[in-house]
Amino acid sequence: MTSRDRELWDAQAATFDDEPDHGLHDPQVRDAWRTLLLSVVPPVPTRIADLGCGTGTLALLLADEGHSVNGVDVSPEMVRRATAKAGSYPGTGFVVGDAAAPPFPSGRYGVVLCRHVLWALPSPAAALSRWVDLLTPDGRLVLVEGFWSTGTGLTADETVALVEGAGLTATLKPLTEQVYWGKRTDDERYLVLGRR
Ligand SMILES: C[S@@+](CC[C@H](N)C(=O)[O-])C[C@H]1O[C@@H](n2cnc3c(N)ncnc32)[C@H](O)[C@@H]1O
Repeated sequence: MTSRDRELWDAQAATFDDEPDHGLHDPQVRDAWRTLLLSVVPPVPTRIADLGCGTGTLALLLADEGHSVNGVDVSPEMVRRATAKAGSYPGTGFVVGDAAAPPFPSGRYGVVLCRHVLWALPSPAAALSRWVDLLTPDGRLVLVEGFWSTGTGLTADETVALVEGAGLTATLKPLTEQVYWGKRTDDERYLVLGRR
């Protein structure tokens, strides 16, 4: 991650939540993500790490349910916006840092969540190894990834192989329904759940 990358993400922060799946302003889209995440996250209260958290929308959706979430993002502007949106959820906060080496303690997280960031890291396998280290013994990895029509991203097969390579058992859930994205998509979009 270069300072140029950081500047590019900083520049996107102001309009980031305009995308339906980013801001979750549409109640139907928000409810779809809420239902999806609650189906893969353990009962309240769970300590969750959100890596590459952006403006914190998913983190705050989970905090709203009673979980405590530590978010990290390389973009100070994304973190500033996430912090402003958060108000005062107990145990929830956001810091600037590298998702590839999160500034969080090992073995303390019931869930490590990451949406649309793994594919862009220089070494996804090395990052996943570090992420698994953050988990409690019965913790879960929740990855939302995609392979986009632009030809970028990770295919579901690639992500499953990465998660299995990190020593977890992977379960794939395709996310092709329009309701998650607020629009029709031909991209390969999916969630992979990793468990020991
Ligand atoms: C596509 S956005 C996804 C944001 C959020 N996960 C979501 O789904 O709403 C990618 C985010 O990852 C952040 N990011 C990219 N590379 C990063 C890195 N190496 N470490 C931390 N954050 C990173 C960007 O600043 C941006 O906020």
